[in-house]
Amino acid sequence: MSLYCLVYTSIANQKMSDDNLKDLLKKSRLKNERKNVTGMLLYLDPFFIQILEGEEAIVNESFNIIKQDSRHHKVKIIYKKPIEERSFPNWTMGFNKISDENVEAVEGFSDFLQRPTSDFFSDSPSETEKMLEKFLDMFKHETLF
Ligand SMILES: Cc1cc2nc3c(=O)[nH]c(=O)nc-3n(C[C@H](O)[C@H](O)[C@H](O)COP(=O)(O)O)c2cc1C
Repeated sequence: MSLYCLVYTSIANQKMSDDNLKDLLKKSRLKNERKNVTGMLLYLDPFFIQILEGEEAIVNESFNIIKQDSRHHKVKIIYKKPIEERSFPNWTMGFNKISDENVEAVEGFSDFLQRPTSDFFSDSPSETEKMLEKFLDMFKHETLF
């Protein structure tokens, strides 16, 4: 089995209440458990960032379903790559809300969030990947609900 991860950003089509998010997570976790997919979903109105980890074909298949979901748009893959081990092995889909402190903790993230598709970030994919990995690292150990 080749382990693989995919990170994307998107924009929510409406403000997501805690109940909306819990509902989304409940279904996602059931499906992810069946597919042995793990990861983390982060929300900072109106942005989503999600990392999906699992077998390559399964991750791609899940992403193709997720990207068509009417709850978000501008779904854009930031990076995908083979991995040695999972960064979020404990979560069938962890969840956290991004705080201002989180944004400030990683240099460049605030700019990224405003314009994830800008040339600057597409032109320096490895820098962007490193910056996002650092950002995601902050959420490895907890899930909000
Ligand atoms: C931001 C976001 C993240 C999502 N994450 C997942 C996920 O990790 N796993 C999953 O199966 N579905 C996820 N979904 C839901 C799927 O898009 C889709 O609604 C669901 O898989 C459909 O399930 P059903 O057709 O069995 O009802 C997500 C949706 C959104 C908007």
